[in-house]
Amino acid sequence: MVEPDQPSTARMIDFWLGGEHHYPVDVAAARAFEQAYGPCAPVFQSLRAFLGRAVRAIAATGVDSFLVFGAGVPTMGNVHEVATDATVLYTDVDPVTIRLGQRLLAGSDRAGYGFGDATDLGTVDPALLHRFVPGWGRRPVGVVFLGLAAFLDDDTLARTLDELYAATAVGSQLAIDFDTEELADNPQALAMMGPAFRMRSPAAFAPLLGRWTPTSEGIVAVPQWRPDGPPEQVPDAFHGVVAVRSAG
Ligand SMILES: C[S@@+](CC[C@H](N)C(=O)[O-])C[C@H]1O[C@@H](n2cnc3c(N)ncnc32)[C@H](O)[C@@H]1O
Repeated sequence: MVEPDQPSTARMIDFWLGGEHHYPVDVAAARAFEQAYGPCAPVFQSLRAFLGRAVRAIAATGVDSFLVFGAGVPTMGNVHEVATDATVLYTDVDPVTIRLGQRLLAGSDRAGYGFGDATDLGTVDPALLHRFVPGWGRRPVGVVFLGLAAFLDDDTLARTLDELYAATAVGSQLAIDFDTEELADNPQALAMMGPAFRMRSPAAFAPLLGRWTPTSEGIVAVPQWRPDGPPEQVPDAFHGVVAVRSAG
């Protein structure tokens, strides 16, 4: 596989999680970011733990297939490793990460990886959707939308979430996070995220959910979402929510 010359936030996260599927360019970018921000591994371990608790909670309600947007590297406690009885379609727009994911999942009959622009459901290969998210639009599914909101402006995020709501069956559930305004205190690290990076307060994020109804936990710092034990003591970088597609 040809090594990429541009870093990817997804593969930087793999590095911080202690994974093995990243390249020197990702490690260099991760180290440069940490110079400005401080240690990132605990923050992303906490975010990945939120993914685990959210996916397990969704699966516990009987949901047995998941569609993952902005999926990144499908390892280190990712969706199919947590929901071990479910089928999972991972999607992303980054060709290098997609190829990496396809290689990692090559032997799996339960999880697949394909191109998918979260802002345009029509870009997801219908054959992959049919295979790994059977009953899409007819049976409740889990939609995982983590690490992605920061890259979408408010109008695009609200429209995207509304289109997902319309496309999914009643009882479907959405796990989503967003970046808080914590990084505003660190202009050097913030600048590294590029001009399109968006931070939000919970009050600004809540209306973007539109018709999706948050579970009783609401929108909280990710360590606080149904913690298994004492919540991790990490910077307040990410808030998250699980929300349900009710009738209508
Ligand atoms: C910060 S990473 C998050 C990866 C993974 N979800 C995680 O939490 O570890 C963001 C990912 O979103 C992808 N991405 C960016 N814009 C996207 C879009 N419009 N649709 C789908 N994926 C997108 C990037 O390629 C990248 O892999």
